[in-house]
Amino acid sequence: MGEVYEKLQRCYRSVRQKTGFCPQAALVLGSGLGGFASMLRTEAVMDYREIEGFPVSTVAGHKGRFVFGYAGEVPVVCMQGRVHYYEGYAMQDVVLPIRLMKLMGARRLLLTNAAGGIRDGMQPGDLMAITGQIASFVPSPLIGPNVEELGERFPDMSGIYDKGLLELVCAAAKECGIALKKGVYLQMTGPQYESPQEIAMCRILGADAVGMSTACEAIAARHMGMEVAGISCISNLAAGISPVPLSHDEVKRAADQAAEKFGRLVYRVISGMGE
Ligand code: HPA
Repeated sequence: MGEVYEKLQRCYRSVRQKTGFCPQAALVLGSGLGGFASMLRTEAVMDYREIEGFPVSTVAGHKGRFVFGYAGEVPVVCMQGRVHYYEGYAMQDVVLPIRLMKLMGARRLLLTNAAGGIRDGMQPGDLMAITGQIASFVPSPLIGPNVEELGERFPDMSGIYDKGLLELVCAAAKECGIALKKGVYLQMTGPQYESPQEIAMCRILGADAVGMSTACEAIAARHMGMEVAGISCISNLAAGISPVPLSHDEVKRAADQAAEKFGRLVYRVISGMGE
């Protein structure tokens, strides 16, 4: 058994000492959505610190715990707080929580984030269903010996965002009366925001939104055969598009303002993600 899988197993045993909860869907909450977990019928919570070897986030405003509960009839595990590559963790650690949620039983994953809007017409507060991604600017989380227990060496990424789940996201938005854009998400390492020149490059490459998470998590999930969906909350116009300099406070504020709408959509989607 390889090191990565051994660590994952240790984390899994820690979780199982606390709860036998078996989720069907997994959810990662991005900036501003931290309060969403209170919409779930909660069964248990588990602080990341209680899990041996688990990466703990250092970003202000990121809580750092699993919430186990139900959205309607669907058992869900929800990450309130994620870790980012820019915090200094190895990519294998960044995606460990995703792998752990799959081991717990989740076959479907909804990733959420705050992102900078690149495409013309994007406005702060917009929600964007992720249709595809560009992860070429961050190291792959699959680098290193392949974890055979999880998936194959050379996994296909052409259908990384599941078509059926994308339809579910679009239908849920319609039912909620929420306008939804669709687009391609590009992950940068951060932690600095991009330069205007980098954003010009991202635009040429076909990116509609840019952020510092999500794409690596989607790769790890797809490697394990999970069905993946993603929704970005456009918290700001990307650098050079916006006339004002970016600040983390502004990003947080905009994400907080959209949180109610975002939360309603996420709840509707996740309650349709059962087996
Ligand atoms: N760039 C990168 N990450 C982000 C941004 C951005 O403009 N906004 C929110 N996360």
